[in-house]
Order: sequence, then C-alpha cells, then structure tokens
Amino acid sequence: MAFSKQVPLLLLLFFVASSTGSGSEPESARFLRRAKDPEFLEWMVGIRRRIHENPELGYEEFETSRLIRSELDLMGIRYEHPIAVTGVKAFVGSGNPPFVALRADMDALAMQESVEWEHKSKVPGKMHACGHDGHVAALLGAAKILQENHDELKGTAVLLFQPAEEGGGGAKKMIEAGAVKGIDAIFGFHLATDVAVGAVACRPGPIMAGSGFFEAVISGKGGHAAIPQHTIDPILAASNVIVSLQHLVSREADPLDSQVVTIAKFQGGGAFNVIPDSVIIGGTFRAFSKESFNQLKQRIEEVIVGQASVQRCSATVDFLTEEHPFFPVTVNSKTLHDRFEKVAGEMLGPKNVRERTPLMGAEDFSFFSDAVPETYYYFVGMANETEGPLHPGHSPHFKINENALPYGAALQASLAVSYLSGVSSSSTPPAKEVARDEL
Ligand SMILES: *[C@@H]1O[C@H](CO)[C@@H](O)[C@H](O)[C@H]1NC(C)=O
Ligand SMILES: [Zn+2]
Ligand SMILES: [Zn+2]
Repeated sequence: MAFSKQVPLLLLLFFVASSTGSGSEPESARFLRRAKDPEFLEWMVGIRRRIHENPELGYEEFETSRLIRSELDLMGIRYEHPIAVTGVKAFVGSGNPPFVALRADMDALAMQESVEWEHKSKVPGKMHACGHDGHVAALLGAAKILQENHDELKGTAVLLFQPAEEGGGGAKKMIEAGAVKGIDAIFGFHLATDVAVGAVACRPGPIMAGSGFFEAVISGKGGHAAIPQHTIDPILAASNVIVSLQHLVSREADPLDSQVVTIAKFQGGGAFNVIPDSVIIGGTFRAFSKESFNQLKQRIEEVIVGQASVQRCSATVDFLTEEHPFFPVTVNSKTLHDRFEKVAGEMLGPKNVRERTPLMGAEDFSFFSDAVPETYYYFVGMANETEGPLHPGHSPHFKINENALPYGAALQASLAVSYLSGVSSSSTPPAKEVARDEL
C-alpha cells in the first residue's frame, strides 16, 4: 500500500479517536495512569517499604496481614480473615458471579539482607528477597483501582493474600480452607529482574515446573577405614546412587521434555579413618508434565534402593511431602493468555508483551490449577538498563524496582475488569444488583 494514501486515513482515524475524548483511551491505560499518579505510587511504595522492614516467614505474616486489612478497611473493602492462618480474602464488585481472583503472596525468606538502605529489614535473618512485599503492595493498588471503578465490574473481583509461598504450600492451604470455591479464573504475577520495566512476559501452557523433594538414608555397616572388608561402605554406595540418578534425565527422559534431578544434600561420616554406618542424600526433581513428574518420582526411588543394594546397602526414600508438598506444574490457560495479550498490549504496546520461555523454578500458584477452572501466571518487568542489572531473587543483595509496582497494580485490575466483562457478555446471565454493604 502506498504511503501517501495511508496518511489521510491515519489522520482521519486520529481525528475520530481524539474527538471521542478520554473515552477512547483503553481502560487499562487509564488504570496505569492512575497507578502512576505520584500520590498513588507513594502510597504503594510506603506499604511495600513497611512490609520490607518487617519481613515475616510463611504462616507468620501476622503484621503483614494486619497492614493489608487496615488498608482494605480504609478503602471500604469487605474481607474474610483468617484463612490458612494469616490469609485474607477481599471482595470488590457486585458480590455475584462471575468471580475472578487476583492473588499475592506475603511471605519473606529466612536470610540476612545485605542491602544497606533506609528501609532495610529490621529483623535479623529475615528478608523479603523474592519481592513478595511488592506483590502485596501492587495487589492493594489493584484493589484501590477496582474499588474506584467498582460500578464497572460485571461480577466480583476476589483479592487473595496468601501465606507461605516459599515452600510452605500456602496456596494449597487456602484452597483447603475453601478460599477459591466458586472462583472462575485466577491471575497471579511475579516481579521479574530479567524483564524491562514497562514490559511483561508470559506464555500459554506450562510456565513453571512441577517440583518435589526427596531424602534417602543409605545404610551399610561402619568400621575402620583401613579394613574395608569388615564394613559395608555407604559412602561409596551413595556415590554410585548419585551417579545413577543422573542417568534418569540423560538416558530415560525425552530430550525435548525438560527435567531436572539434583542432589543438593550429601551428609555422612566425620572422621578420616572411620567408615560410617549410614549416609543421607537429598535433592529436588522438576518436570513439566504430571506423567514425567510421576515417572521421575518412581524411578528416583527404584534407583536409590536398587543401586544401594548393588553395594549391599539398604536404603529408604522419603519424599518429605508433609513439610514440602509436591508443587504441580504451573499451566496457563490459552483463553486467559489471549485476554492477557490484549489487555497488556493495549496498556503497554504489543512490543512490551514478551514471550517467556518456561522456567524450571516452581511456584505454589500451581495449586490453583486443580481448584480453579482457568489459571494464569505472568511476569512484570523491573529491569532498568540505566540503573544497571538487578540481583536475582533469593540473593541477599536483591532489590526490587518500585517503579514496577504501578504496572502490577494496573494489570491485575485491568485483567479482572476485562475478564468479568468478557464472561458476562458471553455465557453468564447478568448479575443481580446487590446493595454495596452486603458485600
Ligand atoms: C530508568 O532509570 C532512569 C534513572 O533512574 C530513570 O530516569 C528512568 O525513568 C527509568 N526508566 C523507567 C522506564 O522507569
Ligand atoms: Zn521465592
Ligand atoms: Zn517469589
């Protein structure tokens, strides 16, 4: 098409768009403008910094939960509490179906902060090094935007503040407590150090791996290190077990189906001249489908027991699911992905909606997959080239970019509004009006 012919058309479109006034601005862009408002941003940053100064571990997020509830009170948003010890479930909108949930995790990590700044953790040995303080602040930001626009909600947005994402299975406990009963779809996000601020990254289908832990005790017969014939050496047996476990991924798995088996723990012995009675090994395994995950689990046990017996040792294997429930694969709904691309594209421009390759890391958001019909988990960028690279999550030097908070807040709010509009206009009959104080 000739350029000269395009110009008048574009001018005409521009004229039509601008003549309709502010109504032509996509809602998501309006929400982002609101969240970037200096006063709004300062409020979110203030919440984030207060949480950062007082980090709390899984199921101990009492002050964080209290802060969330006091902010919800100030906004006039109704909530239920406690759910799964410290969890909070809040409601914005009609109080009727459809229900779309937005989730933030609240917990910190058991580690010492190394960043020297005004709002450094005041609790020795505890730190928000994964950005969950930012997730909470952004979800409160989304709550404020939704509350300001509650008349537009064609259904109900449910805000879930969950405990214990870092290995404690807080999402699972929330589900067991009934927190997602009746929820039609759920959105969650993580702040990302490797995506530019102003951009987001995601993909449909599997995005985070399923994950499990295991620990094995390999037992032989201890004795003098110089008289091996009178012993059954569990250290050598464990070494062979570890090498054999490496063959599960390299020889038994489809090379195109990503999997990991890592031994991260090897404990046994203590003297140079004593063969110990037993050795403990432990580690983690990851996969992107239930089948591959279950296959790995079964083979890990068989290889440990079988290979130990080659060296006359016995072995017991424990998958530690009491303390560390298996995390399912995090899978993104295709229809929610299409909605995400549309909403995020309108807000940030299509070039800032990036494709993300799946990560071997696990996320307890995956538990919602079995309990909610449609789930979607995405990444909100924090990186700013001018300010240099960010340290990765779980580093003692980790710092979030607080300028990313408006993006998380506006996107969550926009996704909720868009989802409810889409569902209401297609399948569900119009929701009944209820008085606001019934919410
Ligand atoms: C990146 O950082 C620079 C310097 O602090 C700042 O001026 C700029 O606005 C930031 N960019 C974005 C997109 O936030
Ligand atoms: Zn983490
Ligand atoms: Zn995290």
